[in-house]
Amino acid sequence: MQLPTQLTLGVATAAYQIEGAVDEDGRGRSIWDVYSHTPGRIKDGTNADLALDHYHRLEADLDLIQELGVQAYRFSIAWPRVVPGGIGVVNQAGIDFYSRLVDGLLARGIEPMATLYHWDLPQPLEESGGWPARETAVAFGEYAATIGTALGDRVNTWTTFNEPWGSAYLGYASGAHAPGRQNAADAFRAVHHLNLAHGLGVRALRDVVRADAVLSTTLNLHTFRPAGPTGEEARDRLEAIANEAFLAPMFDGRLSKRLVELTQSITDWGFVDDGDLAEISRPIDALGINYYYTNSVRMRSPGDTTSPGLQWPAAEGVEILPKQGPLTEMGWNIDPAGLTELLLALHLRTDGLPLMITENGAAFPDAVDGDERVRDVDRIDYLREHLEAATVAIEAGVDVRAFIVWTLIDNFEWSLGFAKRFGLYRVETGSLRRIPKDSAVWFRDVIAARDTAV
Ligand code: NOJ
Repeated sequence: MQLPTQLTLGVATAAYQIEGAVDEDGRGRSIWDVYSHTPGRIKDGTNADLALDHYHRLEADLDLIQELGVQAYRFSIAWPRVVPGGIGVVNQAGIDFYSRLVDGLLARGIEPMATLYHWDLPQPLEESGGWPARETAVAFGEYAATIGTALGDRVNTWTTFNEPWGSAYLGYASGAHAPGRQNAADAFRAVHHLNLAHGLGVRALRDVVRADAVLSTTLNLHTFRPAGPTGEEARDRLEAIANEAFLAPMFDGRLSKRLVELTQSITDWGFVDDGDLAEISRPIDALGINYYYTNSVRMRSPGDTTSPGLQWPAAEGVEILPKQGPLTEMGWNIDPAGLTELLLALHLRTDGLPLMITENGAAFPDAVDGDERVRDVDRIDYLREHLEAATVAIEAGVDVRAFIVWTLIDNFEWSLGFAKRFGLYRVETGSLRRIPKDSAVWFRDVIAARDTAV
């Protein structure tokens, strides 16, 4: 496989999923600390207090990244480590950790890609209202300024948010993620204030980071495939709720009309103040997307009591059909063509804005053979097919700049705990020893082959 040279190849992680050290060096609590310690919330009963102990194994983990030969490492900064109360006093030890991380990457010739928010809201901010509250967005703007000032001389690629869809809908509507609230009106307030926080974050970063910095955000835009005669109607609704809720304010400076119609009985969007949409639509330099699978959708037939309907707010009449195999261990279907389609559609939707695939990867059962090797051929196939799908989009004229694999190392998969393994490196339970899977070796070879051919 010969990859386009314009693609920055990398691996990603997120703070809460790997760091551990939740009580150390002045770190405050996040909504995930509280949620994961609430009985019944995490499927395998684990939490990420220790996680992979990355906080204490930073240098060794940076060496693992270097061994892959990647050009970039996408990591997230834990807001509660840097500003334990969410707003106000800054914890210098937190800043120092990320500063060491960035310096360690640069010393190894790896580009740091920093995400400011990967789901770990400081708990005090949840207690004062969480994402449904405007004050949380304002606090995020201040936090962005703090981090931008501390690392802006060395970090060039910045992402404000990772998948705000999950923070809003899983956090405040279905309750499947922290903070685990279930209130549809709050979920839409959260959508708006996450969008606003993104805009305030972009404003704060622009003031303090390098002039050539790339400012971005990462959305998990969904691809919906209509099934049967009602499929188009279902797709139209879900596009508004899942995708346009974020894209319309960001790229058009307006609320999605369809979304406002669909949410009529839930909210009047009266919390959107004058000036908010101008703030949200501040220009960015690239858009990140996380891509894993597609969804076949249709409207539920009237009187159908067998299908569960959809747990998303304002989508009660819509159903996502059971996924057709082959499936990953998450139960997600493997559909690389969906990635090409999404990239082509986004290229048009964003007027040719540079796009970055900030996550793609797969969980599989990963048997360890007697010789300690993990022959994860299924993961290699998955990644190869998606790299090819990205290449097809590039050849069709889409400006795709990065392909970042989720994830460096097996880690805490949120409400599923440690049961699902997405890593290129395996982690041994107990010793926490890291073992490269065959996919790590494969990825290293793909990168080396591309870069020696240049
Ligand atoms: C989305 C999230 O950004 C990441 O934290 C998660 O582990 C992966 N996708 C896999 O579900």
